[in-house]
Amino acid sequence: MSIKQLPSHLVNQIAAGEVVERPASVVKELLENSIDAGSTKIEIDIEQGGVKRIRIRDNGKGIPKGELALALSRHATSKIESLDDLEHVASLGFRGEALPSIASVSRMTVSSRTEDCEQGWQLMDDGQEIFSDPEPTAHAKGTTIDVRDLFYNVPARRKFLKTENTEFKHLQDVVQKISLSNFQIAISLRHGQRSVLALQPAKEKAGADRRVAEICGPAFMEQSLYLDYEAAGLKLWGWVGLPTFSRSQADLQYFYVNGRIIRDRIVTHAVRQAYSDVLYHGRHPAYVLFLEIAPEKVDVNAHPTKHEVRFREARLVHDFLYRTLHQALADVRPNDTQDAPEIPSQQQPNSASFQYQTNQQKLNIPVSNNIPASQVAEQMAIYGRMHEAGNPITAATAEGVTRQPPLSDDFVKRMAPQVTAAMPVDTSSSTGETPPLGFAVAQLHGIYILAENAEGLVVVDMHAAHERITYEHLKKSMANDNVRSQPMLVPQSLAVSQKEADCSEEFSETFQKLGFELNRLSPEQVTIRAVPSLLKDSNVEQLVRDVLSDLLEHGSSQRIEQEMNEILSTMACHGSVRANHRLTIPEMNALLRDMERTERSGQCNHGRPTWTQMSIDQLDKLFMRGQ
Ligand SMILES: Nc1ncnc2c1ncn2[C@@H]1O[C@H](COP(=O)(O)OP(=O)(O)OP(=O)(O)O)[C@@H](O)[C@H]1O
Ligand SMILES: [Mg+2]
Repeated sequence: MSIKQLPSHLVNQIAAGEVVERPASVVKELLENSIDAGSTKIEIDIEQGGVKRIRIRDNGKGIPKGELALALSRHATSKIESLDDLEHVASLGFRGEALPSIASVSRMTVSSRTEDCEQGWQLMDDGQEIFSDPEPTAHAKGTTIDVRDLFYNVPARRKFLKTENTEFKHLQDVVQKISLSNFQIAISLRHGQRSVLALQPAKEKAGADRRVAEICGPAFMEQSLYLDYEAAGLKLWGWVGLPTFSRSQADLQYFYVNGRIIRDRIVTHAVRQAYSDVLYHGRHPAYVLFLEIAPEKVDVNAHPTKHEVRFREARLVHDFLYRTLHQALADVRPNDTQDAPEIPSQQQPNSASFQYQTNQQKLNIPVSNNIPASQVAEQMAIYGRMHEAGNPITAATAEGVTRQPPLSDDFVKRMAPQVTAAMPVDTSSSTGETPPLGFAVAQLHGIYILAENAEGLVVVDMHAAHERITYEHLKKSMANDNVRSQPMLVPQSLAVSQKEADCSEEFSETFQKLGFELNRLSPEQVTIRAVPSLLKDSNVEQLVRDVLSDLLEHGSSQRIEQEMNEILSTMACHGSVRANHRLTIPEMNALLRDMERTERSGQCNHGRPTWTQMSIDQLDKLFMRGQ
């Protein structure tokens, strides 16, 4: 076959292969156009999962009559003019590819009216890029794009489409993702006669909260914290789920860069790392986060569907995300509810909820790693008395919070003496205000502390809470002490790649701070001369290899700290107060006060919750009081 220029409709169909995979991708492109046009209201009407019809109507700036044909032509855009524009692009579109691609695989009609035009104009496109003159039509200011019979002329693509329901689910997912980054726009979605979404524009934080709750579920809203932090020209804001609201799948993770939803390995890695110390094994964090960064620092032209971006300073971004989230999660403290996110009215909390204060200012306060050794010793002494070689807590807490069995007569009899025997609430040492976790009133089964606070009843898993406190103390005292290093009797030599060896030199100071001493022997050989004494029995060779590969890929690694933390966590677990150990009321109160002071005290070292609140209202409901 001789070389021939392809006809333009075939060029468009080839481009459509990348841009238009299914109805959901059409909706994504059209919504992005409506947003770029400055719309404040967008209506989406779908028939048969989008395969039969997708109609999107907006009230944006419209397309002038004379530009309608251009809008449908390949490589025609109003959004950039030069390479420089591309490098600073702030709009969602920039390729001038979406409309002609969609038109080449469907029957499309564009109707539009601009502000200064009395009349709307309409143009049909059969994908051939030969346009008749636009025809007059009645249309309010804005644009309607009507896409019918998707893939009618590409049977191979049509065959790959799933059921109407599945296609609609994908499409709805796209609408939800886009709605989350455009709070100011009213968005409605109808499937046939059914209204699926009707989102009001959100002007204030409360409205944004409502939208997040509507899309991510009220439980996420209730158990998340809001953060808003800016540093080094980067801004991160949004909602992050508390570790106790983790998911079995990574299905509630929305990350936007300058308003564009993206998937990115650097981001996922940084977020996972931030949660690593508080998340229950195998669980996934939930978040809706927005990163704002100067447009020239991110390349949005990295993927045909624009789902991926490339950060020009990937390490900086990784570090910023990790630190900000890590700190936000560390700052979670039991506190009053005044800053807790508003729960939409349809929410009926049916279980005890966790309520935390979210405080963005706190993010500015560096965590003090400087707890004097004497204070640590004092803490250990207080708990020394609690210390006992009792049975470790087993089934009751191993699987997290277990369902309460119904109270049997026997149980009530057994418990009654202990509860009544408890000492009166000790408020003498307080300033008159009840602290967030309140004052201890009793201990239950040697496992739980019951305390009374302003809200009602607080139940604390004693071992889980103490374990976290001990762990955080150990971590801090180790950080204070500088990591102790121990020379290896026989230095261990590692064969590595040249890149890895370069990396070991570049990061030699980092390794040194963590107690390692690495020497480069040859272009492809590194020797380990000293290791942190805490890790002397670990597989240091594997650890160093893993750290080098992290450093090469992400520019940072938390592996050494994580490995040390794991050991400290085990020490904390063994060193913590056990089940079936009776505490006095002052001991219990000391533990509660310590929880209020300790970072991440809402979860034990394994990510299980350490305490829960039952409000008087919730208790009243149990007894049908006031009904
Ligand atoms: N809803 C709309 N309101 C106003 N103008 C629109 C609308 N949709 C498209 N346009 C105009 O048509 C042009 C072509 O749209 P198209 O989506 O094909 O390309 P793009 O948005 O510029 O880039 P990309 O291919 O990256 O989406 C846009 O640049 C814009 O000027
Ligand atoms: Mg576009």
